[in-house]
Amino acid sequence: MAEAVRAPLPEDKAERYAALRAEIAAVIAGEPSRTARYATAASLLAGAFPGRFFWTGFYLVDETKGNELVVGPYQGSLGCLRIPFGKGVCGVAAARRETIVVPDVHAFPGHIACDSRSNSEIVTPVFDRTGALAAVLDVDSTGFNAFDGIDRAGLEAICGELLTLD
Ligand code: SME
Repeated sequence: MAEAVRAPLPEDKAERYAALRAEIAAVIAGEPSRTARYATAASLLAGAFPGRFFWTGFYLVDETKGNELVVGPYQGSLGCLRIPFGKGVCGVAAARRETIVVPDVHAFPGHIACDSRSNSEIVTPVFDRTGALAAVLDVDSTGFNAFDGIDRAGLEAICGELLTLD
């Protein structure tokens, strides 16, 4: 059960990600629902970086289609419902099965503008225990060039915690 009063998060960004990873892992430990795990991560991540994380959430592989993402738990303004593999930043990250950092979304060919206030983003794949792609984590910022290698390492580590029960 999550504590009602949480310890303050470290100021240093890498340390903040490490603390978040531990907190997310503790809250979702033993929870078999993917929805519950993704929703927990979206909430804690968005809450940890309030000025920088404008939209924080998951697009899930639609298992009935295999090559399309459908929106999952998120924090932020209204997101697009479906994204084909290969389209937009999320769809390209899903097709390549790798993290994509985009300093200026307006310069990314095929970027899908769910909210015109987003200017940069990072999308990180989530794999299940078999190595199959399960989802992507999409974080958007209103700032340009908002994400760096520390964000990439931190978000990849957190995505690695999310499917340990599958
Ligand atoms: N920016 C994304 C679309 C999803 S929303 O921004 C929530 C993309 O191009 O993949």
